[in-house]
Amino acid sequence: MMRALVLNGPNLGRLGVREPDVYGTASYEDLVVAAEKWGAECGIQVEVRQTDDESELIGWLHEAVDAGVHVVLNPAAFTHYSYSLRDAAAQVTKAGLVLVEVHLTNPYGREAFRHVSVIGPVATGTVAGFGLDSYRLALSAVASRA
Ligand code: DQA
Repeated sequence: MMRALVLNGPNLGRLGVREPDVYGTASYEDLVVAAEKWGAECGIQVEVRQTDDESELIGWLHEAVDAGVHVVLNPAAFTHYSYSLRDAAAQVTKAGLVLVEVHLTNPYGREAFRHVSVIGPVATGTVAGFGLDSYRLALSAVASRA
């Protein structure tokens, strides 16, 4: 069975509690359950992880490359400034694996600092603005691209 890591960056563990007017009322646990179900529906064995730590997230991308596993990545605020995360993400796509950048919100409709993604240029593609559904669309893209 195809495998994918669904990786989430800082503050996403606080989904449902953090600015629900912006990020919705679904909890991180809801995201985990939904992503596992959506993965199974498209034939992907999904493992969902979250960290507030940049180096841990980079390590998980290295792990994906070494294990040949596709990635759905919500880099959260790292999206906008982490060149080290970008360099790790580039290794995933250079290895011929799919990496879909996802966002719950549409960063282009928000503050100017969110209009730049340093991850986007090295991702296979980006899904943003559909709430939890962004992850479903991303997993479906992995299934059809991989
Ligand atoms: C986010 C958008 C980012 O700008 C923000 O820093 C996040 C979440 C999203 O999923 O909409 O933490 O990645």
